Amino acid sequence: MVNIILFGPPGSGKGTQSDKIVEKYGLVHLSTGNLLRQEIAAKTPLGLEAKNFMDKGQLVPDEVVIGMIDSCLEKHAASKGFLFDGFPRTGAQAQALDKLLSLKKTGISRVLALEVSEEELVKRLLKRGETSDRSDDTNESIIRNRYNVYKKETEPVASYYAEADKLERIKGEGSVDDIFEALSASLEGEIDDATNDRN
Ligand code: AP5
Ligand code: MG
Repeated sequence: MVNIILFGPPGSGKGTQSDKIVEKYGLVHLSTGNLLRQEIAAKTPLGLEAKNFMDKGQLVPDEVVIGMIDSCLEKHAASKGFLFDGFPRTGAQAQALDKLLSLKKTGISRVLALEVSEEELVKRLLKRGETSDRSDDTNESIIRNRYNVYKKETEPVASYYAEADKLERIKGEGSVDDIFEALSASLEGEIDDATNDRN
C-alpha cells in the first residue's frame, strides 16, 4: 500500500489536487471534510453534531473523525493505497492514523504540504462562497477563523512528519496544472501511476 497525505490550510487546493492525484495513481480519496458534509446532507446524528463545529470554522472532535477514517480504511481494505485530504489535523489524529495503518502492516509514505499565503486563501474561499453551498465559505470572519485554527492546531502536525523525514513542502500558488506537476514529481518513484498498473 502507498498512503499519501495532502496537507495544507483551508483553500490551499487539497480537494482540487486530490481529484487529479487519485485519478493518476489509482488511490482511494479520503477527505474528512467531504465525509462530514455527506453526513450533514443525510441528516445523521453525526452530521448534526459536526455541523455545529463546521459552521463556525472549528474542528470536529478527534474521536468523530478518527472513527470515520477507521471505517473507511476497513471498507477499502483491498485498495492500492489512500490519499488523505484534510486529515490528520491534530497530533492525536496523526497518532491514531499511524496506529490504524500499522495494524494493517502499512504506514504513511509521504506528506505533501501545499503552501499558500493567507491573503490568497481568503480570496479563493470568498470567491467560492459566492456560488458554493458551503456554509463555512460565506463570511470572511469564519474563513479567517478556519485559518487561525489551522495555524494553531494543524500546522504543528507538519513537524511530526518532518521529524520522520516524510514531509515535502510544495508551492500551492500558480496554475492548478503546474502545482499538480510539482506534486507528481514528488511522488515519482514512490508510486506507479494507474496506467502502468493496467499493463
Ligand atoms: P475541509 O472540507 O477539509 O475544508 P478546508 O480544509 O477548510 O479546506 P477546503 O476544502 O475549503 O480547501 P482545499 O484545501 O480542499 O482547497 P480546494 O481545492 O477546495 O474541512 C471543513 C471543516 O470540516 C473543517 O473546518 C472542520 O470543521 C471539519 N473537518 C474536516 N476534517 C476534519 C478533521 N480531520 N478534524 C476535525 N475537523 C475536520 O480549493 C479552494 C478554492 O480555491 C476552490 O474554489 C478552487 O477552485 C480554488 N483553487 C484551487 N487551486 C487553485 C489555484 N491553484 N489557483 C486559484 N484557485 C485555486
Ligand atoms: Mg477540501
